Amino acid sequence: MKMVVLRAVETGTSPQSLNANVMAGERPICPNLQRYYYLSPREKIKYLATPEAQFLFSGLPTEVAEMLQKGFLAGSLGVNILGWEEVVVNYFMANSRIIPALAENPGTFTMLEKMYHFEPVNGVIDNYFLQCKSGGQALYNRYKVVTAKACDHIAEVLVNNGQCLMIDIGSGPGRNAIDICRLHPEFNGVIKIDCIDIDPAVITKGQELIAEFGIKQVEFVQKSMTRLRKRYHGNVGYGLLIGILCGLTRQERVGLLISLKSYFCKGARLVAASLLDKMIAEDLLCAYILRETTGWGLQYPPFGELKEVFEEAGWQYEGYFQDEPTRFYEIGIGVA
Ligand SMILES: C[S@@+](CC[C@H](N)C(=O)[O-])C[C@H]1O[C@@H](n2cnc3c(N)ncnc32)[C@H](O)[C@@H]1O
Repeated sequence: MKMVVLRAVETGTSPQSLNANVMAGERPICPNLQRYYYLSPREKIKYLATPEAQFLFSGLPTEVAEMLQKGFLAGSLGVNILGWEEVVVNYFMANSRIIPALAENPGTFTMLEKMYHFEPVNGVIDNYFLQCKSGGQALYNRYKVVTAKACDHIAEVLVNNGQCLMIDIGSGPGRNAIDICRLHPEFNGVIKIDCIDIDPAVITKGQELIAEFGIKQVEFVQKSMTRLRKRYHGNVGYGLLIGILCGLTRQERVGLLISLKSYFCKGARLVAASLLDKMIAEDLLCAYILRETTGWGLQYPPFGELKEVFEEAGWQYEGYFQDEPTRFYEIGIGVA
């Protein structure tokens, strides 16, 4: 239930209509992912032969491993496989900390804490996520490159304006903001970073972290990201939107970017990350497991769609950068 409420608010669409669709299990599979489900078993067998897939299957009970491999090769939705819930989903729920957390709330920051190596993982399933390209590799690369790019961008704002109000929208416990402050003590006194998140557990964790590191210029704002027009109305000089768009359809992304634009002053940048179809091309097994065990409706648009989305929402598109070397994300730079 928590997941449904968060998503409805975050998308900016009517909570009533979204709730009804999601609760009825009607959120359709991303068409790009579906195309890969339809590949022949011969074309998909390579995904079962990677070292991390082999590691996973060697640690699963035979019945679970066989049903998972068979479903994957056939491209079957879990809901259409007899015994899937009892055998595969129940096993993943009971033997992973990541899967139940994502099933309850796909937007959870707790998975990222593990993929960023701040929290240890236990067991075969969670270690599989940590090893695989989409998990501990691409997410970690994204986190690092976003911090580095944000530092450069903020330095530019400071050269031009002397000060900067930054917002991290859907910040989680503020890992990027904390790194920015720790890497650049000279920003102290001239930047303020508001970490906006709706989840009270995030706020508690983030406040513990800023106390631990003695950081004064980060504030946590427990609000829905779409309800801050009055607070910011054109004052924001820089923004991050990371780990938010990936579960939203194209229209939902446009709607969100339209509502966020009013927070920013003219010429300010917003950096937003979008998962790409490259993830399914290179790590289809992980995409299959995530969707069929947690019901997480991730979207996998082609490279270039983020530019169109920004522009449709009234932003200019300055360019992009990527999580290197994985390149599973297009990380776009919009200009208000
Ligand atoms: C996947 S995490 C991303 C955290 C961080 N940006 C990162 O990349 O490490 C998404 C975060 O967005 C928050 N969130 C979801 N819906 C939200 C909303 N409507 N308003 C504010 N925060 C929201 C969640 O609570 C969660 O902490």
